[in-house]
Amino acid sequence: MSEPIKWVKKDPAKENVFWPTEEMKKQAWVADESIYAEAKADPVKFWAQHAEELHWFKRWDKDYEFAPLAYKWFIGGKINLSYNSLDRHIEVGNGDKVALIWEPEPTDEEPLKITYSQLHTLVSKFANVLKSLGVKKGDRVGIYLPMIPEAVVAMQACARIGAPHSVVFSAFSPDSLRDRLIDAGAKVLITADGYYRRGKQINLKKNADAGVEGTGVEKVVVVKRLDGSAPMTPGRDLWYHELMEGASEDCPAEELDAEDLSFLLYTSGTTGKPKGIMHTTGGYAVQSYLTAKWNFDLHEGDIFWCTADVGWITGHTYINYGPLMNGVTSVIFEGSPDFPDYGRFWSIIEKHKVTQLYTAPTAIRMFIKWGDEWPAKYDLSSLRLLGTVGEPINVDAWLWYFERIGGGRCPIIDTWWQTETGANMVNSLPGIGPFIPTVAGRPFPGVIADILDSGGTPVKPGDGGYITIFSPFPPALTRGIYGDMERFKNQYFSDYGPERYFTSDGARKDEMGNIRITGRVDDVMNVAGHRLATAEVESALAQNDKVSEVAVVSRPHELKGEVPVAFVLLKAGITPSEEIRKELMGTVTKVIGPTGRPDEIIFVEDVPKTRSGKIMRRVLKALVRNEPIGDITTLQNPDSVDHLKEVVGYKGE
Ligand code: PRX
Repeated sequence: MSEPIKWVKKDPAKENVFWPTEEMKKQAWVADESIYAEAKADPVKFWAQHAEELHWFKRWDKDYEFAPLAYKWFIGGKINLSYNSLDRHIEVGNGDKVALIWEPEPTDEEPLKITYSQLHTLVSKFANVLKSLGVKKGDRVGIYLPMIPEAVVAMQACARIGAPHSVVFSAFSPDSLRDRLIDAGAKVLITADGYYRRGKQINLKKNADAGVEGTGVEKVVVVKRLDGSAPMTPGRDLWYHELMEGASEDCPAEELDAEDLSFLLYTSGTTGKPKGIMHTTGGYAVQSYLTAKWNFDLHEGDIFWCTADVGWITGHTYINYGPLMNGVTSVIFEGSPDFPDYGRFWSIIEKHKVTQLYTAPTAIRMFIKWGDEWPAKYDLSSLRLLGTVGEPINVDAWLWYFERIGGGRCPIIDTWWQTETGANMVNSLPGIGPFIPTVAGRPFPGVIADILDSGGTPVKPGDGGYITIFSPFPPALTRGIYGDMERFKNQYFSDYGPERYFTSDGARKDEMGNIRITGRVDDVMNVAGHRLATAEVESALAQNDKVSEVAVVSRPHELKGEVPVAFVLLKAGITPSEEIRKELMGTVTKVIGPTGRPDEIIFVEDVPKTRSGKIMRRVLKALVRNEPIGDITTLQNPDSVDHLKEVVGYKGE
């Protein structure tokens, strides 16, 4: 057996700084520093050059155009995401390559391998099914599917006919589904009867049925993943497999305008109402394709595994579109990393010879807790590169991932980005480096970003500020919030004006320009890598009629990064009890889903308020974090703080 390629070397002068080896540089798509300066000198030219690598029905007339809240890329170009994901590879004789490997959760079920040609057929047929249900270009289609290949088929089919999809995470509650379906104005929903999670059958259809109540959804397509006994509503519900049987395989990809909406994806903002982030077709395609290729060093024959759910942006871009546009194999895993035991991830890597693993720091921290013996049992030597995403990674988790999973040879690409940015924005490149724990790296070539103070001046290396993106904006950056351009303007372009996108993330940079993301500066949390607003949890709890007042703040958590903690004031005459606590947890699960459940519910008699009656969340946050509370003399009820100190066992002063 030949020696495995060593991908990284330790910088002898600096602790925990790693660089690519010469061999790695030879293999990587980019290995020369000059790429940064070159792209920075003319970012528009940079993106336009790489856009040429994709298939366009018609080349664009103009690369980039800026107007406040209306920036555009590849103007006049005609393109299709599904064509670039499928047809393009088949045309050059790669139809028999495996596009998807699906690993079902039950270990007695065989994994499924779907080639590019097979996927093309499935997608074309399902695109025709959608058409037969009356879906036309521009119509929004809801997708509420678990981690099964049909999720990719459904998204690709929508992309093929230019019907923007709106995927809703399958663990979200019926209420969350309903809000999103109504906001998107979807008339068709694609769901499944259920799926497997930790050995149990989860009844998804029941949630879908409840979620479509009161929406404009007229047809529900149901994928049969379980035994097919789910009740079907006549005239509304249709089985996927029955519709597919009679569907034609002939469905040429629609020639879409580069700026046509490709999908909506709802994400948490600072208010209780999630926002529908709009993504385009051409710009999104180009940045998804190029970042997948360069960041994960995708080459022919690679087996790429992004462990995110398709319900999040990471799943959209790096399970579906990014890897498929690059013609590699993308792995989809249905289940939980602890089923049937803690070795499941590592067994999947060994079995399918995964070459790149892309996961979240939360998962890594969980693996550490489960013990080194689990990964040690498996052959992980197929891995060449590791990625992380979703939240800041701590040094210990980084080093464990590097040594125990990557065997000390795989670079870790720490990618910072957001639902709004559509694709990776800041990270080191595998052929250039450096790879430093807790440091994401430099902005991807062609992304112009800096760390600004609140007045808009770039901060000095080492100082904290806000990471900000400058026009020419990267091509995948969102073009708006569906149906609410005012909110779009206020959220992203009011701080620094229309030519600078405000990310809501704090950051610092070093002398070389490497960026460390320090976390959100607004009331958005990252709970186990899931984005959640404190206001969402508050409005969910407020729906319980026993609740008089509620305030939710985030608290650091060893495994999950951050967790919500709820302060609840019950209505007069109601005494706190374990039962009520459970009931409130149930309310959150009903309104948001299990991902929104507070780590702790603290019953209180009063919450600190300003003289105008606003709850001082800053004080509550300090209390649960044992941080200095600061000035409370202006409070309406300063005594409440002493009481709360006792209740939470405050150790901060
Ligand atoms: O705070 C940042 C954090 O996740 C937020 C975006 O969440 P979402 O839209 O759900 O997208 C997650 C996947 C892209 C950001 O505002 N975040 C994302 N990646 C990182 C990160 N924080 C630190 N390091 C990262 N690599």
